[in-house]
Amino acid sequence: MSHQTDGAPLPDQTLTALREAVGPSHVLTDPDLRATYETDWTRRFHGEAAAVVRPSTVDEVAAVLLACGEVGAAVVPQGGNTGLVGGGVPRAAGDESGSPRPQLVLSTLRLREREAVDEVAGEVTIGAGVTLAALQEHVRRAGWDFGVDMGSRDSATVGGMVATNAGGVNVLRYGVMRQQVVGIEAVLADGSKVRRLPGLVKDNTGYALPSLLAGSEGTLAVITRVRLRLVPQLPRRAVALLAVDDAAQAATFAAQLRRSLATLTAAELFDDDGMRLVLEHAGGEPPFREAHPRYLLIECAAAADPTDELVNAFSGLPSRDAVMASDEGGRHRLWKLREGHTEAVNAAGVPHKLDVAVPIGRIGEFDVAVREAIRRADPGARTFVYGHVGDGNLHVNVLGPDPEDESVDDAILELAIRMGGAVSAEHGIGVAKVRWLVADRGESDVAAMRAIKRSLDPADVLNPGVLFATPLDRG
Ligand code: FAD
Ligand code: MLT
Ligand code: ZN
Repeated sequence: MSHQTDGAPLPDQTLTALREAVGPSHVLTDPDLRATYETDWTRRFHGEAAAVVRPSTVDEVAAVLLACGEVGAAVVPQGGNTGLVGGGVPRAAGDESGSPRPQLVLSTLRLREREAVDEVAGEVTIGAGVTLAALQEHVRRAGWDFGVDMGSRDSATVGGMVATNAGGVNVLRYGVMRQQVVGIEAVLADGSKVRRLPGLVKDNTGYALPSLLAGSEGTLAVITRVRLRLVPQLPRRAVALLAVDDAAQAATFAAQLRRSLATLTAAELFDDDGMRLVLEHAGGEPPFREAHPRYLLIECAAAADPTDELVNAFSGLPSRDAVMASDEGGRHRLWKLREGHTEAVNAAGVPHKLDVAVPIGRIGEFDVAVREAIRRADPGARTFVYGHVGDGNLHVNVLGPDPEDESVDDAILELAIRMGGAVSAEHGIGVAKVRWLVADRGESDVAAMRAIKRSLDPADVLNPGVLFATPLDRG
């Protein structure tokens, strides 16, 4: 999180090899051209790359990795750079991983291949650099849809979503990214290619490499193509916003709705401070005349209009108030109140973003305790808690503490572990939470992870400093 200049330059012969591999205009060394690749979305993480390289084929990716491997340069894979844990930008000098190795960003944005939808299998093979929005458009044109959706859809790439095992707003209906991946093509650190793209529904032939790469955060391979399972289009949607007493009530309502509403696709939580911040930032009117402590947004989707079903379900719940919308504009306005949080918080300062999993039955208790823990760590901090309550996933965002001061982060993560949760529900470990990996998973789990990393990438070429606190040869 330091802002010192970092990394050694790449030897001239490596730069020449990279230019030959991907074309000179796709090896960026000018600081102005590199800048947007070197700072993360939150502005909390920054490091300098000797170059940004933009391959457009799997063979070019392999050539880049070989050239870097030869001189021990570190490679940071990057997709849309919407990641929130600092794993997709170069490491800063002074980080524990900080070595004088040259580091390079490998941008996947030119891996844009879009194969025709396989209508029989209901699957599609897609380049790692294709954005989620472009994937959605592609498969919707063919009459299908994709099961993962999230607010960063216009920039987040398929490769980045697999690498982070992204979650999003429809997990309670379709699962996380790993559950959509039926095949993968990737390049390992030594330049070898692994490819399993036939899209078989059942395939127990050896270890499941696609599953292993999901959530590997760029540390095991560069993902170049992915074969994805598709879901039916559900064109009729209805959204309701319920005003509730607290997070515990929101979690209870979400659980009841999951049982009674087969068409439920989302159950999202936010608080009144967060909603006011979104309205200040993006404009718009509050949905209720008076403020309420917490809000639960629920969405149903189906082939036929789910409005009546939704109204019947939430009318039976003792909420403080409720509004709903079935038309596109109204739905968008309600969703904006939830999805607008990330941008609104980011516009108000450099946030400390913690993305924790909590047992669903303890969401209410956590929501109270985490605010108290933050107050103790920094009485002047502003806290916004929102997230995917139906999945037990809360995003705790804190404004105020210096980006380098991790006392608030520590207080939140310690609480999540103590309550039986996890330090990352969907954003990953990146560089932001490496100190917490052992505390969360335990020594032997992390030793097994390190053994996998060491055998696939013994020279620690791919994303050093992500996931593991110390270099591989030291632990
Ligand atoms: P990047 O940020 O470029 O990289 C993320 C990580 O993946 C890095 O470690 C990088 O090294 C690695 N990586 C990227 N591409 C590859 C590749 N091809 N091969 C190997 N490794 C690779 N996340 C959620 O899970 N759910 C949400 O609801 C959600 N909402 C968001 C809303 C907003 C407004 C924003 C800004 C972010 C949100 N995110 C969310 C976080 C982010 O969008 C996801 O983590 C996303 O999956 C990252 O994709 P990316 O292409 O931007 O990856
Ligand atoms: C979300 O659910 O809004 C995202 O994961 C991003 C965030 O945590 O702000
Ligand atoms: Zn989220």
